[in-house]
Amino acid sequence: MDACVLDAHRMTSAPPPRKSPRMIIAVDGPTASGKGTLSRRIGARYGLAVLDTGAIYRAVGLAVLDAGADPSDDAAAAAAAAALDLAAIDDVRIRADRVGQAASIVAAKPAVRARLLEAQRAFARRPGGAVLDGRDIATVVCPDADVKLFVTAALAERAARRHAELAGRGESVTLADVAAQIEARDARDANRPVAPLRQAPDAHLLDTTGLPIEEAAARAFAIIDAVLGRP
Ligand code: DC
Repeated sequence: MDACVLDAHRMTSAPPPRKSPRMIIAVDGPTASGKGTLSRRIGARYGLAVLDTGAIYRAVGLAVLDAGADPSDDAAAAAAAAALDLAAIDDVRIRADRVGQAASIVAAKPAVRARLLEAQRAFARRPGGAVLDGRDIATVVCPDADVKLFVTAALAERAARRHAELAGRGESVTLADVAAQIEARDARDANRPVAPLRQAPDAHLLDTTGLPIEEAAARAFAIIDAVLGRP
């Protein structure tokens, strides 16, 4: 994948980069923890471009499914990552539940992760900096990030949020099935040998259970301002 292409692609909807200093904010957390929404709020507040790195893994998962291949097939996953069409990041089909499952499977493969790593780092290095959200941003992609957040929420609440999101898109799936799939995905993402989901030792924990998004965002801003020494 061409990192410049990714950068240019995301620039279209990103705010203009600040000249200096570069600031990188890493936002990690499990499925449906609210990290994506929070990252967009953080990007808007601090004038930073935002990269949803899960969308890249989802795009690879979708490419494998579109090819009629099995996401657990190493060669098919590696080939899809190597040939990734970045326009797929904005394809609404990547948000489907089955694509999220496929993304979690391809993301466990070292060859896929290696292929996608440099593009994520190049995005983070952009002038002014960036917010990246994912699973391994603070631990692998940007271990030197200025601020690291680990966003989580109770399983029941994450399941309810994801269920409402899927229902809103017309996907018919039960709440129990969504909860079971989230649990399976958490386990796969956290237990894989390469770049597992985990809170970095220097990351700040933000539990969004029971918090409206405004309150969760306010707490994220307070953490960031405190780390940066801003009033
Ligand atoms: O954040 P998401 O649910 O859209 O991510 C989809 C999958 O991609 C997730 O189950 C694990 C994988 N992923 C990853 O392994 N590393 C990242 N930095 C982001 C996502």
